[in-house]
Amino acid sequence: MQSQCAEIQSQISGRVLEITINRPERKNALTMAMYSAMADLLNAAADDPSVRVVILTGAAGIFTSGNDLTDFLGGSATGDESPVYLFMQALYNFPKPVIAAVAGPAVGIGTTLLLHCDLSIAEDDAVFQMPFVNLGLCPEYGSSFLLPRIMGHAKASELLLLGKKFDAQTAADVNICNEVVYAGEALDRARVYAAELAEKAPEAVRLTKKLLRQGIHENGLATIREEANHFKTRLLSEEFREAATAFMEKRPADFSRFD
Ligand code: COA
Repeated sequence: MQSQCAEIQSQISGRVLEITINRPERKNALTMAMYSAMADLLNAAADDPSVRVVILTGAAGIFTSGNDLTDFLGGSATGDESPVYLFMQALYNFPKPVIAAVAGPAVGIGTTLLLHCDLSIAEDDAVFQMPFVNLGLCPEYGSSFLLPRIMGHAKASELLLLGKKFDAQTAADVNICNEVVYAGEALDRARVYAAELAEKAPEAVRLTKKLLRQGIHENGLATIREEANHFKTRLLSEEFREAATAFMEKRPADFSRFD
C-alpha cells in the first residue's frame, strides 16, 4: 500500500497501517495532492483484510496546520469530487478503527478530523484550533453538528465562534481526545492501542464501530454536505480573501470594511 504523494507517507507494521503527514516546512498543511493520497490509502485499507487498524499522525512533532491556505486562495475545488471531500468521505465511512497521534499544531481540519477518529492521543504540547470564523469561513467536516453533542452548546460556540487555540488538556476535557501523554509519546501509545485492537476479533471490532456511529451517521453526512456548500461559497468571499492574505502577509486581518 504505497502513497502516491511524497508528503504523505505510509507504512504497514503487522496489521496496522500508519499514515504520516510529512510537510514540516509548511507545518504539515494539507494540499489537494495530500488529501487525495490519504483518501486513496484509506479506501485501499478499507478493502484490505491485512489491515485492521490505521494510525494517523504527523511528522516532525506537528500534526497538521490544516488546509493549505495558498491552495485555497488559488481557488482549489471543494465540491463533491474535490480531494478534500473525498478524504472526508473516506475517513467518515472507514469501517476499521482509526487512532490519531497528535503533537504540536492541530489546526482546522487537524482538529475536526479527530471527531471522526476512534481514539485520539495528544501530546501535552499539542495545540488545537478551529479558526474558521477568524478566516471568514464556516465550520466544516460535521463539526457544527458534532461539537455541541460532544461538549455542549456553550463550549462548542466558544471554540467555533471565538476560534481560539486550546491545549491538550482542554481537548481531553471536552472529549476531542482520549488521553494526554508527554511530548514524544503519542505515536508509541497509539501503536500500543493499535496492536491491542489488531489482536481482537476483527468483525466484532468493525461491528462495534458501526454501532457506535450509527446514531449520528446520516445526520453527520448531511451536515458535512451542507457545511461544504457554504464553505465553497465562503472561499470565494472577500472576507476569506482578506483573512488568507493577512495570514500570508503576517498581519492581523481587518474586517472593518465589511457589512
Ligand atoms: N497553509 C499554508 N501555509 C502555511 C499554513 C497553512 N495552513 N500553516 C503554516 N504555513 C506556512 C507559514 O505561512 C510559514 O511559511 P513561511 O516560512 O514562508 O513564512 C510556514 O508554514 C511556517 O509557519 P509559521 O506560521 O511561521 O509557524 P508557527 O510555528 O509560528 O505557527 C501555526 C504554526 C500552525 C500555528 C500557524 O502556522 C498557523 O496558524 N497556520 C495557519 C493555520 C490555519 O489557519 N489553517 C487553515 C484552517 S482552514
